[in-house]
Amino acid sequence: MKNLKRLFLSIFILCSLNASSKEGMWLPMFLQQLNFAEMQAMGLELTSEDIYSINNGSLKDAIVHFGGGCTAEVISGEGLLLTNHHCGYGQIQSHSTVENDYLSNGFWAKDRSEELTNEGLNATFIKYMKEVTSDVLANEIANMPEADRREMIKSLGDSLISVEIEGTHYEAIIKPFFKGNRYFMFVTETYTDVRLVGAPPSSIGKFGSDTDNWMWPRHTGDFSIFRIYADKDNNPAEYSVDNVPYTPNKHLDISTQGVKPGDFTMIYGFPGRTDEYIPAVAVKQITQVLNPAKISIRKTALEIMDREMRASDDVRIKYASKYASVANYYKKWIGENTGIQKTQGLNRKREFEQAFMDAVNSDDSYEKYAGLLGVYDSLYTELEAIALARDYFIEIAYRGVGIVKLANNVSKFVATGDVKDLENFKKTIASHFKNYDAHTDQLLFDALFAKYETEQADSEFSPDYFSGKTYSGETVFSKSYFSSIEKLEELLNSSPKKIQKRLAKDPAFKISSSLYAHYRNIIYSDYRALEDELDRVDRAYLKAMMEVLPDYRNYYPDANSTLRLAYGQVQGVSPLDAISYGHITYLEGMMEKYVPGDYEFDLPEKLIELYDSKDFGPYADDNGMLPVCFIATNHTTGGNSGSPALNAKGELVGLNFDRAWEGTMSDINYDASRCRNIMVDARYVLFIIDKFAGAGYLLEEMTIK
Ligand code: ARG
Ligand code: GLU
Repeated sequence: MKNLKRLFLSIFILCSLNASSKEGMWLPMFLQQLNFAEMQAMGLELTSEDIYSINNGSLKDAIVHFGGGCTAEVISGEGLLLTNHHCGYGQIQSHSTVENDYLSNGFWAKDRSEELTNEGLNATFIKYMKEVTSDVLANEIANMPEADRREMIKSLGDSLISVEIEGTHYEAIIKPFFKGNRYFMFVTETYTDVRLVGAPPSSIGKFGSDTDNWMWPRHTGDFSIFRIYADKDNNPAEYSVDNVPYTPNKHLDISTQGVKPGDFTMIYGFPGRTDEYIPAVAVKQITQVLNPAKISIRKTALEIMDREMRASDDVRIKYASKYASVANYYKKWIGENTGIQKTQGLNRKREFEQAFMDAVNSDDSYEKYAGLLGVYDSLYTELEAIALARDYFIEIAYRGVGIVKLANNVSKFVATGDVKDLENFKKTIASHFKNYDAHTDQLLFDALFAKYETEQADSEFSPDYFSGKTYSGETVFSKSYFSSIEKLEELLNSSPKKIQKRLAKDPAFKISSSLYAHYRNIIYSDYRALEDELDRVDRAYLKAMMEVLPDYRNYYPDANSTLRLAYGQVQGVSPLDAISYGHITYLEGMMEKYVPGDYEFDLPEKLIELYDSKDFGPYADDNGMLPVCFIATNHTTGGNSGSPALNAKGELVGLNFDRAWEGTMSDINYDASRCRNIMVDARYVLFIIDKFAGAGYLLEEMTIK
């Protein structure tokens, strides 16, 4: 009887561990303390030192922040890096022309001399991290204005950093955690010679494109391969023909064992941003006001770009990267809204707030927290119109219409007349026009400005531009110097005085300077002031909830582009009534989706041949089929693209690249029953390199288990 009781108890503990086990993006330095027991119970076979250690080559030494936005990992002793196709997309695109179209055809360097250099691309390792809270807050006083607090942290932080990195080639950065209740320093080493080694054609690397983006079941081989180069001492160096492949402290072993449901997995990488602790009013504003506005603006822009891209190969290549990035969050916000609705996310937040208030009211010493939620209500009410105006500005003037953005680049020179500012402007021209089509941009101008004007005219933050003289797209694009590189360059051959005078009268410049000035002086300054207020409340509220409701939920710091570990299990999902998805997809599914000639679902001839001959080599699953992607319950977000999915032994079994649409609200409200991250199966990556691309020589550098 007693034993039976104990058995039940341990089953209960295991189940509750499982239930709480998947949410969170954890700081590697605290794994031993916070997560290790649970990770072990879920199957981990490593020590926490194997995952993160300051001194020895631990897994963290194989992980890099790739180009500042994605993650990549070292997979050979000679600096080979694996990341997503969509993370290397800009680079692959920049080496592509209509004649030499690596986006469409793929690219494989046959030897090191063919590896392609990428200006501006870098790979950053984390050497170590440490807590610096008490140092940077040394002079904190009660009710310090936020600006002063920031200033204090910056100046104390800067001196800490300069002491820390003195005499090294490292850099360091200090970031706030737990809404500024704690601070950590990250000491980094950045390599700047990172070359493109290989990429599959988009029909593999981007298979399913935007229709399948954020979707499960998925069949995208979203990977590309780069290599880090170093100087002869293995240190970071600018590109040089004398540079040599980087020798890492640690590279990941690759497993061809595959995964099955229930298997432990972890994702090691650089998640960008989450907002898990915002109040219900904020969730309401995001899902009911801001997301719908941005979704509608982007829908308009996407329809225009799509039409023009389908009509011309030139426009297709120029706008491919831009289209993908606009489409990506357009779709994510739709998924996020649906997910919040489906999981009653708003109610869940309200229930939490009720529990918080109950706890606060139950103890006199918590009285100081009683007003927090009320302050949130009034701040978010005040924020609404400003945040909306800010989104319109960003989506249209800053991101949506190219000519307005380009004109803003010269605003400093027009104001100062300083030739240095003119030279700086000149540096931005070539890259702007490389991916520019004036006709498409004019269509965007007309549609987006019409929307801007009608939808923001009644706002108290409506730009002055709309109440004065406005311009039609036709006038702007026929009169402006900014609509063609020839017109602009011809003008730039004249004297600085003349250039300054002409540009000041240019219609695109006038629109741009009016909108940007209004944004800086009115929208942003009000927005910043309110954000300062909100930062203070966020800090107090998170501290309060951890104190008042310590066991209500898991508390982990929101993502902030620093190195984190998420862990979970391989698992299917059933997001809708009577619908349930398996955990893995196979090449069969690609054949089912195949639409010959389609720009999203076409397949390369070679892949079809391999499918027909079932020539999968050692990469097939036990059932003889070729695995493509799989899903698990790891808590991930944007920035985790390219992160390795590691098994219980720390071997690479997959490459993270997406989340399932129904769970994209995990950024504000994670729910283990719906949230899944999507990975390319490592076996598929190897198969494509080896059997499809015939680049098996790359496999020789890797450690394949
Ligand atoms: N949704 C993935 C991420 O957030 C992939 C995006 C790239 N693909 C695309 N079709 N836009 O980055
Ligand atoms: N595709 C995302 C990225 O670029 C990762 C997917 C997500 O947001 O979870 O980082």
